[in-house]
Amino acid sequence: MIDQVVLITGASSGIGWAAALAFARAGYHVCGFARRAERLSGLEAEIDALPSPHGDFLAAVGDVRRADDAMAAVEQTLARFGRLDILVANAGVGHHGQVADAAWDDLQTVLQTNIDGVMHSLRAAVPAMRAGGGGHILIISSVVAGVHTPYTATYAASKAFVSSLAGSLRLELADDNIAVTDVLVGRTFTEFNQNRLGSRQSARGGLPTKTADDVAAALVSAAERQPRHIVLSLFDRLILAGGVLTPGLMARLAKRQYEPSQGD
Ligand SMILES: NC(=O)c1ccc[n+]([C@@H]2O[C@H](COP(=O)([O-])OP(=O)(O)OC[C@H]3O[C@@H](n4cnc5c(N)ncnc54)[C@H](OP(=O)(O)O)[C@@H]3O)[C@@H](O)[C@H]2O)c1
Repeated sequence: MIDQVVLITGASSGIGWAAALAFARAGYHVCGFARRAERLSGLEAEIDALPSPHGDFLAAVGDVRRADDAMAAVEQTLARFGRLDILVANAGVGHHGQVADAAWDDLQTVLQTNIDGVMHSLRAAVPAMRAGGGGHILIISSVVAGVHTPYTATYAASKAFVSSLAGSLRLELADDNIAVTDVLVGRTFTEFNQNRLGSRQSARGGLPTKTADDVAAALVSAAERQPRHIVLSLFDRLILAGGVLTPGLMARLAKRQYEPSQGD
Protein backbone atom coordinates (compact mmCIF):
# COMPACT_ATOMS: atom_id res chain seq x y z
CA MET A 1 0.00 0.00 0.00
CA ILE A 2 1.09 3.55 -0.73
CA ASP A 3 0.77 5.60 2.45
CA GLN A 4 -0.23 8.75 0.57
CA VAL A 5 -3.42 10.77 0.40
CA VAL A 6 -4.90 12.57 -2.61
CA LEU A 7 -7.72 15.12 -2.67
CA ILE A 8 -9.53 15.30 -6.02
CA THR A 9 -12.00 18.11 -6.77
CA GLY A 10 -14.75 17.33 -9.27
CA ALA A 11 -14.66 13.60 -8.42
CA SER A 12 -18.36 13.01 -9.13
CA SER A 13 -17.90 12.41 -12.87
CA GLY A 14 -15.53 12.22 -15.81
CA ILE A 15 -11.81 12.73 -15.26
CA GLY A 16 -12.15 13.26 -11.49
CA TRP A 17 -14.14 10.03 -11.06
CA ALA A 18 -11.67 8.04 -13.19
CA ALA A 19 -8.74 9.59 -11.29
CA ALA A 20 -10.27 8.65 -7.91
CA LEU A 21 -10.60 5.04 -9.07
CA ALA A 22 -7.08 4.97 -10.55
CA PHE A 23 -5.43 6.46 -7.44
CA ALA A 24 -7.37 4.11 -5.13
CA ARG A 25 -6.44 1.13 -7.33
CA ALA A 26 -2.78 2.22 -7.06
CA GLY A 27 -3.08 2.23 -3.24
CA TYR A 28 -3.56 5.94 -2.49
CA HIS A 29 -6.24 7.02 -0.01
CA VAL A 30 -8.62 9.37 -1.81
CA CYS A 31 -10.87 12.24 -0.74
CA GLY A 32 -13.35 12.99 -3.55
CA PHE A 33 -14.87 16.48 -3.49
CA ALA A 34 -17.93 17.64 -5.50
CA ARG A 35 -21.46 19.00 -5.04
CA ARG A 36 -23.43 15.84 -5.95
CA ALA A 37 -23.38 13.67 -2.80
CA GLU A 38 -25.21 10.75 -4.43
CA ARG A 39 -22.57 10.53 -7.17
CA LEU A 40 -19.81 10.44 -4.56
CA SER A 41 -21.65 7.61 -2.77
CA GLY A 42 -21.66 5.67 -6.06
CA LEU A 43 -17.92 6.29 -6.42
CA GLU A 44 -17.32 5.08 -2.87
CA ALA A 45 -19.20 1.85 -3.68
CA GLU A 46 -17.05 1.31 -6.82
CA ILE A 47 -13.84 1.87 -4.86
CA ASP A 48 -15.00 -0.48 -2.07
CA ALA A 49 -15.60 -3.14 -4.74
CA LEU A 50 -12.04 -2.90 -6.18
CA PRO A 51 -9.86 -5.97 -5.69
CA SER A 52 -7.77 -5.63 -2.51
CA PRO A 53 -5.46 -4.04 -1.71
CA HIS A 54 -6.76 -0.61 -2.59
CA GLY A 55 -6.86 2.80 -0.93
CA ASP A 56 -9.82 4.02 1.13
CA PHE A 57 -12.30 6.67 -0.01
CA LEU A 58 -13.79 9.68 1.75
CA ALA A 59 -16.55 11.82 0.22
CA ALA A 60 -16.44 15.59 0.86
CA VAL A 61 -19.52 17.39 -0.42
CA GLY A 62 -19.05 21.04 -1.31
CA ASP A 63 -18.68 23.75 -3.91
CA VAL A 64 -15.16 24.80 -5.04
CA ARG A 65 -16.44 28.35 -5.53
CA ARG A 66 -16.61 28.64 -1.74
CA ALA A 67 -13.29 28.92 0.13
CA ASP A 68 -14.88 27.51 3.29
CA ASP A 69 -15.97 24.36 1.46
CA ALA A 70 -12.46 23.78 0.10
CA MET A 71 -11.04 24.28 3.59
CA ALA A 72 -13.62 21.87 5.04
CA ALA A 73 -12.60 19.21 2.49
CA VAL A 74 -8.95 19.51 3.57
CA GLU A 75 -9.94 19.37 7.26
CA GLN A 76 -12.06 16.25 6.65
CA THR A 77 -9.15 14.66 4.75
CA LEU A 78 -6.76 15.36 7.63
CA ALA A 79 -9.28 14.11 10.22
CA ARG A 80 -9.76 10.82 8.33
CA PHE A 81 -6.30 10.09 6.90
CA GLY A 82 -3.96 12.31 8.97
CA ARG A 83 -2.17 13.87 6.00
CA LEU A 84 -2.58 15.37 2.50
CA ASP A 85 0.09 14.68 -0.13
CA ILE A 86 -1.54 15.39 -3.49
CA LEU A 87 -4.23 17.79 -4.75
CA VAL A 88 -5.83 17.24 -8.16
CA ALA A 89 -7.54 20.60 -8.82
CA ASN A 90 -9.89 19.22 -11.46
CA ALA A 91 -13.41 20.63 -10.94
CA GLY A 92 -14.35 22.71 -13.94
CA VAL A 93 -17.15 23.78 -16.26
CA GLY A 94 -17.18 24.79 -19.92
CA HIS A 95 -19.02 27.49 -21.83
CA HIS A 96 -19.94 27.96 -25.49
CA GLY A 97 -21.05 31.27 -26.94
CA GLN A 98 -19.86 34.77 -27.68
CA VAL A 99 -18.52 36.76 -24.74
CA ALA A 100 -20.45 39.87 -25.74
CA ASP A 101 -23.81 38.07 -25.86
CA ALA A 102 -23.51 35.42 -23.14
CA ALA A 103 -25.46 35.53 -19.88
CA TRP A 104 -23.19 37.11 -17.28
CA ASP A 105 -24.27 34.49 -14.70
CA ASP A 106 -22.88 31.75 -16.98
CA LEU A 107 -19.56 33.52 -17.55
CA GLN A 108 -19.26 34.24 -13.83
CA THR A 109 -19.91 30.57 -13.01
CA VAL A 110 -17.10 29.55 -15.39
CA LEU A 111 -14.66 32.06 -13.87
CA GLN A 112 -15.61 31.28 -10.27
CA THR A 113 -15.42 27.50 -10.79
CA ASN A 114 -12.32 27.28 -13.01
CA ILE A 115 -10.27 30.08 -11.44
CA ASP A 116 -11.55 30.79 -7.91
CA GLY A 117 -12.19 27.07 -7.40
CA VAL A 118 -8.60 26.13 -8.24
CA MET A 119 -7.24 28.91 -6.04
CA HIS A 120 -9.49 28.06 -3.08
CA SER A 121 -8.50 24.39 -3.35
CA LEU A 122 -4.76 24.97 -3.49
CA ARG A 123 -4.80 27.67 -0.80
CA ALA A 124 -6.62 25.19 1.48
CA ALA A 125 -4.23 22.35 0.61
CA VAL A 126 -0.83 24.08 0.85
CA PRO A 127 -0.73 24.51 4.68
CA ALA A 128 -1.52 20.81 5.13
CA MET A 129 1.20 19.86 2.62
CA ARG A 130 3.72 22.17 4.30
CA ALA A 131 2.88 20.56 7.66
CA GLY A 132 3.54 17.15 6.11
CA GLY A 133 6.92 18.18 4.65
CA GLY A 134 5.86 18.56 1.00
CA GLY A 135 3.35 17.60 -1.63
CA HIS A 136 2.20 17.83 -5.22
CA ILE A 137 -0.51 19.94 -6.86
CA LEU A 138 -1.84 18.85 -10.26
CA ILE A 139 -3.86 21.60 -11.93
CA ILE A 140 -6.22 20.40 -14.65
CA SER A 141 -5.96 22.88 -17.49
CA SER A 142 -6.65 22.38 -21.20
CA VAL A 143 -4.85 22.60 -24.52
CA VAL A 144 -7.19 25.52 -25.31
CA ALA A 145 -5.07 27.50 -22.83
CA GLY A 146 -2.44 27.66 -25.59
CA VAL A 147 -4.57 28.69 -28.60
CA HIS A 148 -7.07 31.43 -29.30
CA THR A 149 -10.47 29.81 -29.68
CA PRO A 150 -13.57 31.82 -30.57
CA TYR A 151 -16.94 30.94 -28.94
CA THR A 152 -15.25 29.28 -25.97
CA ALA A 153 -13.17 32.30 -25.03
CA THR A 154 -14.11 32.59 -21.35
CA TYR A 155 -13.42 28.91 -20.73
CA ALA A 156 -10.11 29.07 -22.65
CA ALA A 157 -9.05 32.21 -20.78
CA SER A 158 -9.85 30.55 -17.44
CA LYS A 159 -7.59 27.65 -18.41
CA ALA A 160 -4.83 30.03 -19.56
CA PHE A 161 -5.08 31.65 -16.13
CA VAL A 162 -4.58 28.39 -14.23
CA SER A 163 -1.77 27.24 -16.56
CA SER A 164 0.06 30.49 -15.90
CA LEU A 165 -0.68 30.11 -12.19
CA ALA A 166 0.78 26.59 -12.21
CA GLY A 167 4.09 27.79 -13.66
CA SER A 168 4.46 30.55 -11.09
CA LEU A 169 3.31 28.42 -8.17
CA ARG A 170 5.92 25.82 -9.03
CA LEU A 171 8.54 28.49 -8.31
CA GLU A 172 6.80 29.87 -5.22
CA LEU A 173 6.37 26.45 -3.59
CA ALA A 174 9.69 24.83 -4.53
CA ASP A 175 11.26 25.67 -1.16
CA ASP A 176 8.29 23.99 0.55
CA ASN A 177 9.02 20.80 -1.39
CA ILE A 178 5.64 21.12 -3.14
CA ALA A 179 5.69 20.34 -6.86
CA VAL A 180 3.13 21.78 -9.28
CA THR A 181 2.10 20.17 -12.56
CA ASP A 182 0.14 21.91 -15.31
CA VAL A 183 -2.02 19.20 -16.92
CA LEU A 184 -2.93 20.31 -20.44
CA VAL A 185 -5.84 17.99 -21.21
CA GLY A 186 -7.13 17.58 -24.78
CA ARG A 187 -10.57 16.48 -25.88
CA THR A 188 -11.82 13.71 -23.57
CA PHE A 189 -15.08 11.68 -23.49
CA THR A 190 -16.88 12.81 -20.29
CA GLU A 191 -20.08 14.63 -19.32
CA PHE A 192 -18.25 17.93 -19.93
CA ASN A 193 -20.32 18.90 -22.99
CA GLN A 194 -23.66 18.05 -21.31
CA ASN A 195 -22.67 20.09 -18.25
CA ARG A 196 -21.30 23.01 -20.27
CA LEU A 197 -23.06 26.38 -19.99
CA GLY A 198 -24.14 28.64 -22.84
CA SER A 199 -25.29 27.37 -26.24
CA ARG A 200 -25.79 23.66 -26.91
CA GLN A 201 -23.60 23.93 -30.04
CA SER A 202 -20.76 21.42 -29.91
CA ALA A 203 -17.37 21.66 -31.47
CA ARG A 204 -17.30 19.70 -34.70
CA GLY A 205 -16.36 16.07 -34.31
CA GLY A 206 -13.62 14.05 -35.93
CA LEU A 207 -10.76 15.09 -33.65
CA PRO A 208 -8.81 12.55 -31.59
CA THR A 209 -10.47 12.05 -28.20
CA LYS A 210 -9.07 10.40 -25.08
CA THR A 211 -10.98 8.52 -22.40
CA ALA A 212 -11.16 9.71 -18.79
CA ASP A 213 -9.21 6.55 -17.89
CA ASP A 214 -6.34 7.67 -20.20
CA VAL A 215 -6.15 11.00 -18.37
CA ALA A 216 -6.43 9.30 -14.96
CA ALA A 217 -3.53 6.95 -15.77
CA ALA A 218 -1.40 9.96 -16.76
CA LEU A 219 -2.24 11.66 -13.44
CA VAL A 220 -1.19 8.63 -11.37
CA SER A 221 2.03 8.40 -13.38
CA ALA A 222 2.65 12.14 -12.90
CA ALA A 223 2.18 11.76 -9.13
CA GLU A 224 5.29 9.59 -9.19
CA ARG A 225 7.35 11.79 -11.56
CA GLN A 226 6.11 15.31 -10.68
CA PRO A 227 6.71 16.79 -14.18
CA ARG A 228 6.33 20.51 -14.90
CA HIS A 229 3.50 19.81 -17.33
CA ILE A 230 1.70 16.92 -19.02
CA VAL A 231 0.40 16.79 -22.58
CA LEU A 232 -1.25 13.45 -23.32
CA SER A 233 -0.96 13.04 -27.10
CA LEU A 234 1.06 14.04 -30.15
CA PHE A 235 -2.07 15.73 -31.53
CA ASP A 236 -2.31 17.92 -28.41
CA ARG A 237 1.41 18.74 -28.71
CA LEU A 238 0.81 19.85 -32.32
CA ILE A 239 -2.06 22.11 -31.20
CA LEU A 240 0.14 23.74 -28.56
CA ALA A 241 3.12 24.10 -30.94
CA GLY A 242 0.79 25.55 -33.59
CA GLY A 243 -0.50 28.11 -31.08
CA VAL A 244 3.06 29.39 -30.64
CA LEU A 245 4.54 28.95 -34.14
CA THR A 246 1.53 29.60 -36.43
CA PRO A 247 -1.06 31.41 -34.31
CA GLY A 248 -2.95 32.81 -37.33
CA LEU A 249 -3.41 29.38 -38.90
CA MET A 250 -4.43 27.87 -35.56
CA ALA A 251 -6.97 30.63 -34.98
CA ARG A 252 -8.54 29.97 -38.41
CA LEU A 253 -8.71 26.21 -37.73
CA ALA A 254 -10.15 26.82 -34.26
CA LYS A 255 -12.79 29.18 -35.69
CA ARG A 256 -13.92 26.48 -38.14
CA GLN A 257 -13.98 23.92 -35.33
CA TYR A 258 -16.05 25.98 -32.89
CA GLU A 259 -18.20 28.35 -34.95
CA PRO A 260 -21.94 27.66 -34.92
CA SER A 261 -23.07 25.78 -38.02
CA GLN A 262 -26.21 26.74 -39.96
CA GLY A 263 -29.36 25.95 -38.03
CA ASP A 264 -27.76 26.32 -34.58
N1 LIG B 1 -13.61 16.66 -21.23
C1 LIG B 1 -12.76 17.38 -21.94
O1 LIG B 1 -12.75 17.33 -23.20
C2 LIG B 1 -11.77 18.28 -21.23
C3 LIG B 1 -10.72 18.84 -22.00
C4 LIG B 1 -9.79 19.66 -21.37
C5 LIG B 1 -9.90 19.92 -20.01
N2 LIG B 1 -10.95 19.37 -19.30
C6 LIG B 1 -11.05 19.71 -17.87
O2 LIG B 1 -11.13 18.53 -17.10
C7 LIG B 1 -11.78 18.84 -15.86
C8 LIG B 1 -12.83 17.77 -15.57
O3 LIG B 1 -13.83 17.85 -16.56
P1 LIG B 1 -14.60 16.56 -17.12
O4 LIG B 1 -14.30 16.48 -18.58
O5 LIG B 1 -14.34 15.39 -16.27
O6 LIG B 1 -16.11 17.10 -17.00
P2 LIG B 1 -17.35 16.60 -16.09
O7 LIG B 1 -17.61 15.15 -16.31
O8 LIG B 1 -18.44 17.58 -16.40
O9 LIG B 1 -16.83 16.78 -14.58
C9 LIG B 1 -16.75 18.04 -13.97
C10 LIG B 1 -16.60 17.83 -12.47
O10 LIG B 1 -16.44 19.10 -11.85
C11 LIG B 1 -17.32 19.18 -10.75
N3 LIG B 1 -17.72 20.55 -10.48
C12 LIG B 1 -18.23 21.46 -11.34
N4 LIG B 1 -18.51 22.60 -10.71
C13 LIG B 1 -18.18 22.41 -9.40
C14 LIG B 1 -18.26 23.21 -8.24
N5 LIG B 1 -18.72 24.47 -8.28
N6 LIG B 1 -17.82 22.69 -7.06
C15 LIG B 1 -17.35 21.42 -7.00
N7 LIG B 1 -17.25 20.61 -8.08
C16 LIG B 1 -17.68 21.10 -9.25
C17 LIG B 1 -18.53 18.32 -11.11
O11 LIG B 1 -19.16 17.84 -9.92
P3 LIG B 1 -20.56 18.36 -9.31
O12 LIG B 1 -21.40 18.83 -10.46
O13 LIG B 1 -21.10 17.13 -8.62
O14 LIG B 1 -20.17 19.43 -8.34
C18 LIG B 1 -17.82 17.17 -11.84
O15 LIG B 1 -17.42 16.20 -10.91
C19 LIG B 1 -12.36 20.25 -15.99
O16 LIG B 1 -11.51 21.17 -15.32
C20 LIG B 1 -12.29 20.49 -17.49
O17 LIG B 1 -12.18 21.86 -17.80
C21 LIG B 1 -11.88 18.56 -19.87
